[in-house]
Amino acid sequence: MSEPTIHFYDLHPPLTDLKAEVLTGLSGQPKTIPPKFFYDEYGSQLFAQITELPEYYLTRTEIAILQEHGEEMVSLLGNECLLVELGSGSSQKIRLLLDALQPAVYMPIDISKKHLWQSVQMLAIDYPDLEIHAVCTDYSGQFHLPYHPDNKPKAAFFPGSSIGNFDPPHAQELLQQVAQLLGSDSTLLIGVDLKKDPQRLNAAYNDATGVTAAFNLNLLTRINRELNANFELSRFEHQAFYNEKPGRMEMHLVSNTPHEVKVGGQTFEFVTGENIHTENSYKYTVAQFQNLANAAGLQPEQVWIDPAELFSVHCLRVR
Ligand SMILES: C[S@@+](CC[C@H](N)C(=O)[O-])C[C@H]1O[C@@H](n2cnc3c(N)ncnc32)[C@H](O)[C@@H]1O
Repeated sequence: MSEPTIHFYDLHPPLTDLKAEVLTGLSGQPKTIPPKFFYDEYGSQLFAQITELPEYYLTRTEIAILQEHGEEMVSLLGNECLLVELGSGSSQKIRLLLDALQPAVYMPIDISKKHLWQSVQMLAIDYPDLEIHAVCTDYSGQFHLPYHPDNKPKAAFFPGSSIGNFDPPHAQELLQQVAQLLGSDSTLLIGVDLKKDPQRLNAAYNDATGVTAAFNLNLLTRINRELNANFELSRFEHQAFYNEKPGRMEMHLVSNTPHEVKVGGQTFEFVTGENIHTENSYKYTVAQFQNLANAAGLQPEQVWIDPAELFSVHCLRVR
């Protein structure tokens, strides 16, 4: 048996980026903090717990679609490619494709460094012949692929409806960037959560055991630790709701008392009921997402949805 090969490219954004983005976000009206900062080591562990929650239909529904249609997806992606995965997290879903797909190189990309490293170690044990080039970077800005095997086609996998964290113009920009990195005629397989009954959505982001609340609040713990801030978690409450007009779930941290917080040498005032907007999760109809993909230069080729019409997986081809 050959030795597993893991190459690790640490292009993690510096602490100064976290500081600059948090200070800018807290200075705005309303206050905001980007959701990519949820994913420190503990945040990634909490997200893994969220995927197991009974209310959180997204993960198990996408997995069921991948299980049901994996063979067809694999035939569209093509063997012997450089297979890039955006926001690979625990690299669980890719396993459903790797059993049938033999990429020349697997390139998971994630902002959560330790979690990425641990996930690829586990993957390498189970897929010892897989050549892995893992990249810790932030895909929300300009990024590049640090390794290109010669003469291999490229394909990408972007599961988990993470594209929903971007508002539609930024989602279009990200898809355009991915299309450019892949090159014409390449394939992108992307999971997108569908519009549905708001009750179902609200339950998914307000689980009974409070794991999503802990995930949301952990953002403040991370900022306290990494930016020497003094957020008191007991002064904030988790709030998540569906906002019908833009068609998105929103997560907020709502202040329950008037108080001040010091972050990176600056002071921020909170009044009772004031919130920090921490995440958007846009939901799309199939047609809406196909329009977005088209505008980004990606041709919709195939779409699979589950029988209850909760979630979609799109196959798009770069024009
Ligand atoms: C919603 S989770 C999805 C995880 C996994 N793909 C799944 O489908 O279960 C989002 C993943 O993307 C990563 N992530 C979030 N924002 C990112 C960014 N701007 N750049 C790179 N990775 C990011 C997180 O660390 C996390 O692993």
